[in-house]
Amino acid sequence: MTTRGAMLRVFFIFIFLAGFTLPGLAHQIPDGAEKLTKSEDCAGCHAAIYSEWKASMHANSSPFKDNAHNAVRLKFASSMQQAGITPSYHCGNCHTPMADNLPDLMSGKSQPDSNNWTLNEGTGCTFCHRIEAVISGKEFNQYLLNKDGSFNSPNPSGKAPHKTTKSALFANGEVCMGCHSHMLNDKGAPICVMNEEGTSNCITCHMTKIDGSPVAGSSKKTHFSHALPGGHDIEMLSKSVSLDIHVDTTAMANNVTVTLKNISGHTFPSTMPMRIAFLKLTAEDANGKVVWSNTKESPMEDMQSLLVKTFKAGEEKGVPPWKAETVAMDTRLKKGEERTLTYAVPAENIKTISASLVYRLFAPAAMKMMEIPADGKNDKNYIVITKKMAL
Ligand code: HEC
Ligand code: HEC
Ligand code: HEC
Ligand code: HEC
Ligand code: HEC
Repeated sequence: MTTRGAMLRVFFIFIFLAGFTLPGLAHQIPDGAEKLTKSEDCAGCHAAIYSEWKASMHANSSPFKDNAHNAVRLKFASSMQQAGITPSYHCGNCHTPMADNLPDLMSGKSQPDSNNWTLNEGTGCTFCHRIEAVISGKEFNQYLLNKDGSFNSPNPSGKAPHKTTKSALFANGEVCMGCHSHMLNDKGAPICVMNEEGTSNCITCHMTKIDGSPVAGSSKKTHFSHALPGGHDIEMLSKSVSLDIHVDTTAMANNVTVTLKNISGHTFPSTMPMRIAFLKLTAEDANGKVVWSNTKESPMEDMQSLLVKTFKAGEEKGVPPWKAETVAMDTRLKKGEERTLTYAVPAENIKTISASLVYRLFAPAAMKMMEIPADGKNDKNYIVITKKMAL
């Protein structure tokens, strides 16, 4: 086994020991509760909302629809197998919350089965709309669902042919915090801590009002979009950070100042620690040829340009989340943070200076380690914002 393989094996055992697999760790559904039903059943009346949801990561979060999630969970499963432990799928708490065998998946008694529709749904309509309360947990939170199958929303119209109930959670964004609040490992290291990194109402930015009726036959002209865009969406990314360039030209150099400001509701990039962003600065001559750049091959060549979160265990830096004891470095932009990066670019022969903020869903090193498929999305360099300045 390679050193990396051996390391991975150890890391995954750490996850396993993290206490995620205790039996009974699953969402609470009261005895005798109405069964969760397919999102497809809502499509006939709520056509626009259904098609937005269908294309969203919420409908595509299961191992059978998200190839990156699947790659990571397979690594996790095979490393447990190698260690002689029955693989468990605690990920299902958030990635396949509707699974009718969720406690068994989380304890390792059952394995994910692509023929079971309740896993394929991801976070479907009835799961979200039946959330009654968020149950706080140490490693991560969970939900209590309602018994009567009524659909919760901020302001029920009273016109629906099905049961509806008014719920404040759907107005203030708390409804998201069963899955998006936090994830700690067994050593208490903060893997994802949205609850500390962003405090605004998630719904105001992630579920905006758009054209189209929420239901066939309604007099309403707009509805709240269920596309729930994030890092997979270039338009959403373009709303995350602003960028300005300022240049002071002297005889010695062009002193370039780039100002980045986080205008999203939380840390950028957020929240999954495999996300990464970096600034690419180039200087071009009169022919548009790049004659200077802050990095050649890897963003690591210019540490001030890197927006990233990494972990450490003892003295060892850059360890994966599951081995983490503490955060080694967190250079991501905090909510509302404005940061200036400075560069001395050669003075001669330069006609334009260009700055681009680049975002990646998965850092190249993470893709390699987890064998995440390069499918044109996972490995894409998304340009969040770009500016060019003539000198
Ligand atoms: C037979 C048509 C029909 C079906 C099927 C249907 N709905 Fe509705 N739903 C309505 C109507 C009508 C409204 C009222 C909308 C309005 O006045 O704007 C509504 C409203 C809602 C609301 C908002 C509450 C309110 O009163 O404004 C939610 C949430 C909701 N439906 C969820 C669902 C879900 C989830 C499903 C699938 C399990 C579903 N609906 C299936 C017709 C339907
Ligand atoms: C039952 C768990 C669950 C609930 C409830 C939930 N989410 Fe998610 N959400 C997820 C998971 C899991 C993913 C990642 C899916 C993937 O990438 O495979 C996700 C992804 C996202 C993304 C990223 C999309 C992208 O392009 O990467 C956004 C934004 C988001 N959720 C916002 C919300 C908001 C806002 C709410 C509340 C209205 C909410 N979520 C409720 C589990 C949930
Ligand atoms: C507490 C809820 C929760 C648990 C448990 C959980 N995840 Fe997630 N996961 C999320 C949320 C929420 C997102 C989206 C957040 C974001 O993109 O920043 C996500 C995103 C991801 C992504 C990125 C997917 C993509 O396509 O970009 C991967 C990979 C992933 N999770 C793997 C796993 C694996 C493997 C496990 C189990 C070992 C797991 N997760 C357990 C909530 C969870
Ligand atoms: C002020 C607007 C704003 C608010 C409020 C906001 N977000 Fe975001 N969010 C964004 C923007 C812009 C992005 C895209 C940049 C990024 O991916 O970091 C984003 C990205 C995300 C992602 C995707 C990260 C990924 O890895 O793909 C998740 C998940 C998310 N937000 C969840 C939430 C949750 C949960 C809340 C509430 C606690 C929230 N957001 C509040 C603007 C906002
Ligand atoms: C991630 C959680 C989540 C999922 C999944 C989800 N919803 Fe919603 N839905 C919400 C929230 C939160 C609101 C309230 C938005 C607001 O009022 O700001 C809402 C609002 C609605 C409304 C009222 C919309 C309006 O503009 O009047 C309807 C109808 C609805 N949802 C139907 C559905 C249907 C049908 C599905 C599945 C195709 C679905 N929802 C999936 C969270 C969710």
